[in-house]
Amino acid sequence: MRYLNLVLVAVLLSVSSCSKSKQTSIAPIVTPIVVNPVNTTLKDMPFKFGASVNARLLENNPAYKALVIKEFSSLTTENALKFATVHPLEGHYDFTDATNIVNLALANGKRIHGHTLNWYKSLPAWVTNFQGTTADWENLLKTHIQTVVGQFKGKIASWDVVNEAFEDDGTYRNSIWVQKLGTDYIARAFEYAHQADPNALLFYNDYGQEYSTAKRTAILNLVNNLKSRGIPIHGIGLQMHTRYNQSDANITSAITTAAATGLMVHISELDIALNPDNNQALTYTATLAEQHAAKYKSIVKAYYAIPKAQQYGITTWNVTDADSWIPTEYSRPDWPLPFDASYQRKAAYQAILDGVK
Ligand code: G3I
Repeated sequence: MRYLNLVLVAVLLSVSSCSKSKQTSIAPIVTPIVVNPVNTTLKDMPFKFGASVNARLLENNPAYKALVIKEFSSLTTENALKFATVHPLEGHYDFTDATNIVNLALANGKRIHGHTLNWYKSLPAWVTNFQGTTADWENLLKTHIQTVVGQFKGKIASWDVVNEAFEDDGTYRNSIWVQKLGTDYIARAFEYAHQADPNALLFYNDYGQEYSTAKRTAILNLVNNLKSRGIPIHGIGLQMHTRYNQSDANITSAITTAAATGLMVHISELDIALNPDNNQALTYTATLAEQHAAKYKSIVKAYYAIPKAQQYGITTWNVTDADSWIPTEYSRPDWPLPFDASYQRKAAYQAILDGVK
């Protein structure tokens, strides 16, 4: 264990009152109070612990930036490397946001995970409107991947090469990439990324692997197929946008079956919703905070049980409840992250540390 907890033992003496006829009894009540030393952070976890970071907040919010620097050992680019951000016009790349994140990470000794080279969402209009032959689409895919990976060669340690290629029922999503290039474009995307940076670790990343066995099976079949063909794939990203009442059994199955491939496993976008039913009147209570903490702890414990060499790390999606994508996306109150909207540590924070004890 790489961090120490300071255990303060408060001995409270209880003096029972008694009548003159009884002997006075003194009963010690021992109450252990676990205090996390201020210098222990998520950086001290026995595997990389990261967050996806937002370029605008890093630029404009010093408290956010300080928290990111203090707590995390790995940073994922939330939106800065998505197609529409980095390649908004044909032949025109804008690496500004990504470069700022990469420079911050390198200056502070943090690993950088690039998200994402290929997705069906966040595409610029020039791609969705692109007219061309199959060869033109192949060239578009290859050029994009190799330009972006090449730009950060030796700096970005790992990539979500392909993101969310499957539907929850395990069929291939009918994305523009599948329509134009067929499903085996996935294998070529990994090859193109590998050619551009042979040292980068390459992941297939998707959500729902804990709640859909059909989707999980499809993903495992894909990565096993890629492995057997010698395609350079090094890991599986389990996004794990989950909820406080998801069963531990489902979560553990997703983690252990991914690990059974022998690839590295990255819990790549962890957040735990407390209001999955969109209750507009819900408030954050001590009970919810405890349930939240318990689920964070069980996920960390299940993850820590896979072989060390396969523990690529855990990354939360966003940093605090104030910048989580969930309240905006679903127009509801929610508190999915280990830091509250005032950037204070929640019960879930200590639970993450406790998960590796
Ligand atoms: O930057 C523009 C801004 O100029 C404009 O005024 C505003 C108006 O809508 O939009 C801004 O862009 C938004 C962008 O986030 C930056 O805030 C987009 O509309 C919005 O769609 C985008 O949402 C992101 C979403 O992916 C789609 O790319 C979320 O921030 C991001 O957290 C989310 O992340 C995804 C992962 O990539 C994949 N897994 C699921 C995860 C959560 O949905």
